Amino acid sequence: MLEVRDLTKTYHSGNRHLTVLHDVNFTIQAGDVCAIVGPSGSGKTTLLGLSAGLDRASSGSVILNGVALDNLSEDKRAYVRNQYVGFIFQNFQLIPTLTALENVMVPLELRGERNVKQQAMELLERVGLAERHDHYPTQLSGGEQQRVSLARAFSNRPRILFADEPTGNLDEETGERVEKLLFDLNREMGTTLVLVTHDLELAQRTDRIIRIKGGTVISDTLTNQTSEARH
Ligand SMILES: Nc1ncnc2c1ncn2[C@@H]1O[C@H](COP(=O)(O)OP(=O)(O)O)[C@@H](O)[C@H]1O
Ligand SMILES: [Mg+2]
Repeated sequence: MLEVRDLTKTYHSGNRHLTVLHDVNFTIQAGDVCAIVGPSGSGKTTLLGLSAGLDRASSGSVILNGVALDNLSEDKRAYVRNQYVGFIFQNFQLIPTLTALENVMVPLELRGERNVKQQAMELLERVGLAERHDHYPTQLSGGEQQRVSLARAFSNRPRILFADEPTGNLDEETGERVEKLLFDLNREMGTTLVLVTHDLELAQRTDRIIRIKGGTVISDTLTNQTSEARH
């Protein structure tokens, strides 16, 4: 599903160069549920963005669902994202000028789907927010915004979902509700899940933990988590 090969990313600003990922390698199979953990600044968000085709590597390669993203134009990467990828951000990243319903409709419209409004409503219902469909993001709490962004991320039935500290901005109780929804939707739709977190308890609920530090993978282990215990 996802192959990351010798991935290196260097940011340039003026004459300063900062290499934040060095030769990162891993492979994620379809259906895997895996966590990426590591200290703040270790390159987790950069790695997720490159893996999802939001940004381009300096060298190395990302193969997503059999498609090498490395030399694709921004338009082609956007197409691949819309076809195969869902993304959930720590700070929700809903479009502020669109209602909850319209936010969920966007990926469906980009795909040229039919019954977009009905499909989006069903997803909002699934996350418990049908009655808030005409509210704008600023009218929703953080937990509600993240539930809308879950509905949006799953709307295109992604083959792979990337979640970057999805509960990092939420209080514990709200975070747990969002986590449960994320795992439930993931299981219902059979999505491959790559979850960045520094919540080790959350990471333990996945099947595999990839640890990164200073831009390199320092361990990659199975958690022996049974699916019984996870849910
Ligand atoms: N666009 C950018 N330009 C320059 N440096 C960046 C940029 N994005 C991230 N960085 C730097 O890259 C390093 C890794 O950042 P990040 O991937 O956000 O780490 P994490 O998500 O693990 O906290 C940090 O030192 C950060 O300051
Ligand atoms: Mg980050």
